[in-house]
Amino acid sequence: MTLLRALGIDLPIVQAPMAGVSTPAMAAAVSNAGALGSIGVGAVDAATARRMLAEFRERSRRSLNVNVFCHQPARADGSVDAAWLEFLRPHFEGVGAQPPPALKEIYRSFLEDDAMLAALLADPPRVVSFHFGLPSAERIRALREAGSVLLASATSMLEGQAAERAGVDAVVAQGYEAGGHRGVFDPDAPDDRLGTVVLTRLLVRHLRVPIIAAGGIMDGAGIAAMLHLGAQAAQLGTAFIATPESAADAGYRAALASDAASHTVMTRAISGRAARCLGNRFTTLGAAVSAQRTPAYPLAYDAAKALNAAAKAAGEPGYGAQWAGQGAPLARALPTAELVAVLVRELAEAEVRIAGGPDPPTSHST
Ligand SMILES: Cc1cc2nc3c(=O)[nH]c(=O)nc-3n(C[C@H](O)[C@H](O)[C@H](O)COP(=O)(O)O)c2cc1C
Repeated sequence: MTLLRALGIDLPIVQAPMAGVSTPAMAAAVSNAGALGSIGVGAVDAATARRMLAEFRERSRRSLNVNVFCHQPARADGSVDAAWLEFLRPHFEGVGAQPPPALKEIYRSFLEDDAMLAALLADPPRVVSFHFGLPSAERIRALREAGSVLLASATSMLEGQAAERAGVDAVVAQGYEAGGHRGVFDPDAPDDRLGTVVLTRLLVRHLRVPIIAAGGIMDGAGIAAMLHLGAQAAQLGTAFIATPESAADAGYRAALASDAASHTVMTRAISGRAARCLGNRFTTLGAAVSAQRTPAYPLAYDAAKALNAAAKAAGEPGYGAQWAGQGAPLARALPTAELVAVLVRELAEAEVRIAGGPDPPTSHST
C-alpha cells in the first residue's frame, strides 16, 4: 500500500504537528484540502487533547495526525535547577518580575501518560506520530490495533532503524534545518546534525518503510525536490506558522516577518532540549550557556514560559519560544487552505520544470 493511501490523503503534503502553534482549525483546513493535518498534543493533558480531537472532528471528517512526545521523563537536579533560576534572575528582574521558586515538570511524556493513551484509543485518529523517541511495544500494539497508522521522527540512521524495528509505518526524516525541537531520542548523545537532503537519502536507501522529509521545505519546489530524492511526502512546519489559523502570538508573527527570520538559532536554553528558534533575547542568552547548565527537558521550559509571560506583560516579546526553521524567510502569511492550494500549484509547476518543460506563465517565485 502506498503511503498516501495508508494515511488516507490525496496530496504528498503533511502539515507538521506543532505543539502550541498548530490548531484543530489549521489541521482541518489542511485535511479538507486533501493533505494531512496534524495537531501536537505533546504539551497538553489528555482532557485538552480530547477537546482538540473533537474540535477537529467538527470541522473535518478526513485524516488527522495526532503527535505525542516520547521523551524520557525529566530527572530534576536541584542544584542545576536552582543555579539556572539564579542565572535567569536578572532577566526576570529586567521585566519587573521574579523567577519561580522551583521548576516543575509542566507536561508528561507519552511513555508514562496512560490518560493520553486512553484518549487516543477511545477516539483513534487515522495517524499517531511520535517525537523524541518511541513508546513501548505494548503502546505501539494498542495504537495499531485501534487502527491508527504510526509515524516517528528520526534525525539519524540509528533512530530511523529503531523506528522501523519498532513497527512504525513511516519515518519522518527531520533535518537540522527544521524548526522547533529536534526529535533526537537522547538529547545528551552526540548529534551529527544531518541536513534534510542527506538524511532523506540515507533513510530512503536503508529503510523499507516510506520516508517523509522534513526541515526547510517551504514551497512546492522544495516538496518536488524531496519527492525526487525518494521521499513519499514532505512535512512542513514553519510554512504554516504565519497562517491565521496558527496559535502564534503577535510578537512571534512580527519576529517571523522581520530580519530575525534570517537568523534562526539552535538553542537548548529555552526548553532543555535543542530546538531551532528565531534569533531573539532568549537565543542570545542561550549562546553563552553550556548544555550541562541547562535543566532537563521540560523543566527548563517552565522557567522559559514564566519569563516569557512576565516579559510579554511588560511589552517585551523577545523571550518567546519562537520556533522556526532555516526556511523562515520564505514563510507566507496566507490562510491555510490557500497556502495548501499554492503549494499544490507550485509543486505541479516544479514537476513541469524538472521534466524539462517551459516555465508555466503563472509561475511564482516566492
Ligand atoms: C513551531 C513548531 C513547533 C513544533 N512542534 C512539534 C511537535 O509538537 N511535534 C513534532 O513532532 N514536531 C514538532 N515540530 C517539528 C516539525 O514536526 C518539523 O520537523 C519541522 O517543522 C520541519 O521543519 P520546517 O519547520 O523547516 O518545516 C515543530 C516545529 C515548529 C516550527
